[in-house]
Amino acid sequence: MNLYADNALLLAPLSGYTDLPYRETMRRFGCYYAFTEMIDASALVYARQRTEHMLTRGADEPWLGVQLVSNNPEHLAIAVKLLNNYHFDAVDFNLGCPVPKVTKKGAGAALGRNIERALDLFAIISENSTHPVTAKVRILDRGDAEPTLKLVKGLVERGAQAVTVHGRIAKEFYSGVPAFDIIRQCKEALPVKVIANGGVMGLETYDEMRRESGCDAVMIARGSMGNPWLFSELQNRCSYTPPSLAELLDVMKFHVLGLLDFYGEEKGIRVARKTILDYLRGRGFQGEWRGRAALVGSKEEFLRLLAEAPQYHNEEYWRTADAGKNADRRLSNR
Ligand SMILES: Cc1cc2nc3c(=O)[nH]c(=O)nc-3n(C[C@H](O)[C@H](O)[C@H](O)COP(=O)(O)O)c2cc1C
Repeated sequence: MNLYADNALLLAPLSGYTDLPYRETMRRFGCYYAFTEMIDASALVYARQRTEHMLTRGADEPWLGVQLVSNNPEHLAIAVKLLNNYHFDAVDFNLGCPVPKVTKKGAGAALGRNIERALDLFAIISENSTHPVTAKVRILDRGDAEPTLKLVKGLVERGAQAVTVHGRIAKEFYSGVPAFDIIRQCKEALPVKVIANGGVMGLETYDEMRRESGCDAVMIARGSMGNPWLFSELQNRCSYTPPSLAELLDVMKFHVLGLLDFYGEEKGIRVARKTILDYLRGRGFQGEWRGRAALVGSKEEFLRLLAEAPQYHNEEYWRTADAGKNADRRLSNR
């Protein structure tokens, strides 16, 4: 069984971002496959209430995977059984997170240094899950495909129905050109779909990833921040056209009010600050006003900010030839 359609486009799990309001905003522009943020298996075991909102699936969500991160076999087994009671389309295992909070527990990318352990943990997920199981890895070495191949082949032997390969090593975090050749070798070695990830910010980088890696599908991550239009750009193969000011503000409002609804105003507005900046960055707004937007403290203040936005926007932005193509809002990650 194929978990993903041909040429699928996936929204990555993004900690602190891909909650329900984020996904609902992306879905307006054609996002079909999406993941929750990563969830620590131990948090699921001990702090269900705190993690419960991360498991929330919207009534209209067509496809949703949940992602676990852990280096604790007992907690992982309990967490996976717990997830069996929820409606998910896949359970994904995080083997790539490089942030110290995760790696100091031996989880995420740290498991790349201990392949046997990584595979044993994945087997626990596979044996206990009633959902299809998948994994998301980073490449382990740019100069030598062997360790990465050993990891991904082992995952498939233990039941992975698809593998996402982020083409950067852990110490690179999120910068550098992805190692297309290693993703290609994974694709050639595996009987399941290989999803390529890393640096896809628009049609050009999408085409490059498809061509150079030969992957079955592509996962986008930072390119979607403040830019749900990326989904229609890639799926309709239309060149990037910046949204009009009215549309930009409308979509940002939908996303932010969704956050306030979902988390309640106090927490929601804190979560919304970075979201607002993602929408405003590089889109012709005055820096000083964006600085104020970064400190927004209530729903009322946010609505006031929206109303005054046109005053602080430089109309010239939309007329510059470059705004249509690759304005400075595209993350430079190379
Ligand atoms: C803020 C942030 C949070 C992330 N959270 C997760 C996560 O929860 N799980 C995961 O597998 N990867 C996570 N990642 C990694 C992304 O899914 C993706 O692999 C990485 O950003 C590379 O893709 P990109 O170059 O398209 O952004 C995160 C990345 C960022 C920047």
